[in-house]
Amino acid sequence: MLGKIEEVKKAIEAFQIENQQKLEEFRLAFLAKKGVITDLMAGLKEAAPDQRKAIGQALNDLKNFAWEKFDGIQSTMVSASDSVDAPDMNLPVQSLPLGSRHPLSIVRQQMIEIFEQMGFAMSDGPEIEDDWHNFSALNFPENHPARDMQDTFFVSKDPDVLLRTHTSTVQVRLMEKQKPPIRAIMPGRVYRNEAISARAHCLFHQIEGLYIDRNVGFKDLKQTLYHFVKEMFGPDQKIRFRPSFFPFTEPSAEIDISCLICNGAGCNICKYTGWVEIGGSGMVDTNVLKANGIDPEEFTGFAFGMGIERTTMLRYGIRDLRLFTENDVRFVSQFAGLS
Ligand code: DAH
Repeated sequence: MLGKIEEVKKAIEAFQIENQQKLEEFRLAFLAKKGVITDLMAGLKEAAPDQRKAIGQALNDLKNFAWEKFDGIQSTMVSASDSVDAPDMNLPVQSLPLGSRHPLSIVRQQMIEIFEQMGFAMSDGPEIEDDWHNFSALNFPENHPARDMQDTFFVSKDPDVLLRTHTSTVQVRLMEKQKPPIRAIMPGRVYRNEAISARAHCLFHQIEGLYIDRNVGFKDLKQTLYHFVKEMFGPDQKIRFRPSFFPFTEPSAEIDISCLICNGAGCNICKYTGWVEIGGSGMVDTNVLKANGIDPEEFTGFAFGMGIERTTMLRYGIRDLRLFTENDVRFVSQFAGLS
C-alpha cells in the first residue's frame, strides 16, 4: 500500500499543468470524489491494523501534497488572467484627435489682425436690419435695383425689415454712436437672394472698413489696402484699383489682385482675365456723412468692403464656394493646425 502511495505521489509530481483544462484533469484524476486518493482512502480499512496508522498518515500527506500543487497552480493562473484585463499603466497615452478651425474663421482672424495692427478697432451690428441702415443712410436712391425682392431677403415690407445685404450697415451704426475720428473694421455675415453656385451663395461674409478723420485722402485708402494685400497674400502680390460706382462712395474703386489660382494665366475663377476682385472701396460720399450727422467740410473718410469667402478661396486655392457650407470633414480637416 505504501508503495502504491509513493507511485501516486510520483504521478502527481510528474503531472504537467499548463492550462485550465490540464488543471481540471488533475483535479479529476487525484482530488475528485472518484479520484485516486479517495480510492486509496477507501482501501485503508483493508490494511493490516498495525499498519493503518502509518498508511493513514501517508495518505493524508499525499492528499495535502496534491492540494498544494493544485492550489499553487490555480492561484498563478487566476492572477495571470487578472493581469490581462487590468490596464497596462506603461502603455503610451492615446492622443485625442484635434479638431480644426473652419477656413473662414482662420482667414477672418488673419484679416482682423492685419487691420488691427494698422490701428483699426472692431465693431459689429445686427444681421436683421431696416431700410435706413441697409440702403437710405448709404445714399441708395429710392428705385435702386438692390432694394428689389430679387436681390434682398425681406423679413417684412412696410416697414421694411430685411437681412442685411452688406456689412456697410455697420458703418451707419458706428457713425450714429461715435464722432470722428473713426477707424474700425466690421466683419459679419450678409445675405443675398442669389442662386447657389461655385461662385455665389445666398449667405456669405464680409469685412467692412471705415476711416473718417480730418484730411483723409484716397492715398490713405490705397496705402491701407496695399499693405493689407501684401500682408495677406505675400510681398509679390499685385493689386490694382479699378474705377467703379457705389452709391455710398465717391469716387469709388473696385479692388483687384492678381489671380493666385492661375498666377495670371487665366482660369474660371478670374474669368480668364488674370485679375480677381476682392472687394469695393472709395471715399465716403458727402451725402452719407451728412445723413449721419458728420460735417463733410471738416471730415473726410474712406471705406471698403471685402469678401471673406473670396479672400479664403484665393489664399488657399479653393475653387468652389459651396465647400464652405457643406460640413465635409475631409475639406475642413485639411486646415488642421492653422489658426
Ligand atoms: N457694400 C459693398 C458690397 O457689398 C462693398 C463695398 C464697396 C463696401 C465700397 C464699401 C465700399 O465700404 O466703400 O458690394
